[in-house]
Amino acid sequence: MSYRDTYAAWQADPEAFWMEAAGKIDWDRPPSRAFFDQGPAGEWFADGTLNACWNAVDRHVEAGRGDQVAIIHDSPITRSMRGITYRELRDRVASLAGALRAKGIQKGDRVIIYMPMVPEALEAMLACARLGAIHSVVFGGFAAHELAVRINDATPKAIIAASCGVEPGRVVHYKPLLDRAIEEATHKPDFCVIFQREQEVAELTPGRDVAWHSFQYGVEPAECVPVEGNHPAYILYTSGTTGQPKGVVRHTAGHLVALAWTMKNVYDIQAGDVFWAASDVGWVVGHSYICYGPLTVGATTIVFEGKPVGTPDAAAYWRVIQNHRVKSVFSAPTAIRAIRREDPEGKLIEDYNLRHFKTLYLAGERADPDTIQWAEQKLRVPVIDHWWQTETGWPIVANPVGIELLPVKHGSPSVALPGYDVQVLDEAGHPVPAGTLGAVAIKLPLPPGTLPTLWNAEDRFRKSYLSHFPGYYETGDAGYIDQDGYLYIMARTDDVINVAGHRLSTGAMEEVLSAHPAVAECAVIGVADSLKGQMPLGLLCLKKGTNTPDAQVVKEVVGMVRDQIGPVAAFKTACVVDRLPKTRSGKILRATMVKIADGEPFKTPATIDDPAILDEIAAALRAVGYPQAAV
Ligand code: COA
Ligand code: AMP
Repeated sequence: MSYRDTYAAWQADPEAFWMEAAGKIDWDRPPSRAFFDQGPAGEWFADGTLNACWNAVDRHVEAGRGDQVAIIHDSPITRSMRGITYRELRDRVASLAGALRAKGIQKGDRVIIYMPMVPEALEAMLACARLGAIHSVVFGGFAAHELAVRINDATPKAIIAASCGVEPGRVVHYKPLLDRAIEEATHKPDFCVIFQREQEVAELTPGRDVAWHSFQYGVEPAECVPVEGNHPAYILYTSGTTGQPKGVVRHTAGHLVALAWTMKNVYDIQAGDVFWAASDVGWVVGHSYICYGPLTVGATTIVFEGKPVGTPDAAAYWRVIQNHRVKSVFSAPTAIRAIRREDPEGKLIEDYNLRHFKTLYLAGERADPDTIQWAEQKLRVPVIDHWWQTETGWPIVANPVGIELLPVKHGSPSVALPGYDVQVLDEAGHPVPAGTLGAVAIKLPLPPGTLPTLWNAEDRFRKSYLSHFPGYYETGDAGYIDQDGYLYIMARTDDVINVAGHRLSTGAMEEVLSAHPAVAECAVIGVADSLKGQMPLGLLCLKKGTNTPDAQVVKEVVGMVRDQIGPVAAFKTACVVDRLPKTRSGKILRATMVKIADGEPFKTPATIDDPAILDEIAAALRAVGYPQAAV
């Protein structure tokens, strides 16, 4: 079937389409139907029962794939490499789940996982899934405060953490971060499991911490606990417009059905293939395409602990692809830009045999045509941009390579996948003609695997996604659809920015800056960056009578963001200004400042309070190097 036929088949009968897709998953009790009109936005396969760990692990052992490698850990940063077969994975996960159960973890309990890119992070996720416990993975680049916010919201019974992560040139000490977070949080977990790494052995907190290995001794392995199709598999926090992140909920059945469908139809991956998502387990890409997606279809997944450059060089990706016979890679455009910057001619690529490599997929931020072209020329494989969000859990718009490779249009992630009726709307919520810019929205209901609600925040879910355009899910992205049905994503419509493929909230950073005693008012904007896509930049108005020198305040706020949000925020630049440009009603004109910083033409907003401020802002931005010389 062609893409058009497949999409039309879904449109004609979504129930039949998703029930057929559900046939690729093992059920303890098959669902009677696909869609259930319940909850704030509908739910999927609610009356079926199944287990995610069974589907991702055990069933492959039963099917004779026990000796196939399930996970390859390739860690140039710690100079180590190992493989774990499906049989080993099943035994390790069953043992860990048994130990968690012996400590009281059961179906519905929340477990926070705070770990770097080690296979044990996937094992922890799968052990939770085995028991029906709800995991919430927190990215290692977040600071203690962010972890504390998530502890308070998810109220976990346990936290599973590693002793440390390893970043180029430094060890990330997880244990002190964990201790600080638990101290700050009002909710306290019953216990913490610490996975001790060779690079750093952490001191356990008596009465609270148990060691990963020793707490498993003598414990009965746990079997898979069947859960309802609409039982939450996990909560993953993502940036919204405020400092309080949104807890995206993922239901078990829809998640697996959708991932299995995409592995074949988008990524062209089946059992026995090697798939590599070069992301981190802390992000949605890690959940869907390092852990559950490839494992659910019996493929081999790669857990890569390294960077595209510097570990040790810009050939890291090509070495991994060659050595592990990777068929497809999923990465962020920023990683390709980083490689290109180090090896503009792609000379290092020539040293590797990439004959198993078929397709490069990019997502997480806009893929600029220049980067795509470079990758196409140097790698001689299709380079597929595709668009999705933490909320959806799987691509909304993609070139469905597993069905057919559609013509690639640079700058566009291609076409809507079955399940998604993507439309571009004007402010009043009416669809606009092809080629016209507007808000990108998805007609309800959303397909299986997408968020049914936000954890503990159904009202926020409705307000954030459903109320602006009744009958639609609001994506927060702006763009247009061309005559051929190809979507182009141009910008966010809110205060979310995208730094090196990481989604960050400028609102959260503003909350941190405002807490500095010398800061009266501030704004954080996302400015164009030739490597990371965007970088945050702070503008600070200081309180009258402040004696602290400007440079000192800037240094302190940079430190505060790193300390409270984390190094991943990459907040390095701020400047002091006398006043911020505002509308007459007091709204800060952030979009205008972004245009000035990026050196783009702009119109002075008619509602501006005092146009002269824009010259002051331009001068302050020039002083800190914006616009950049070559963006
Ligand atoms: N734990 C602790 N710290 C982390 C971390 C982690 N898991 N991940 C990143 N950090 C730190 C980095 O060490 C860096 O700290 P520094 O300020 O001390 O240098 C900071 O957070 C910013 O990290 P990053 O934005 O990743 O920049 P970088 O300079 O280290 O690397 C790239 C730049 C382009 C190589 C890198 O961003 C990259 O590989 N990006 C791929 C994007 C990706 O995987 N996106 C996921 C969605 S698909
Ligand atoms: P996240 O939830 O971290 O996956 O971030 C989702 C957001 O990243 C989207 O809403 C977009 O703003 C942006 N994004 C992701 N993929 C793409 C893409 N292929 N093209 C343009 N923007 C993208």
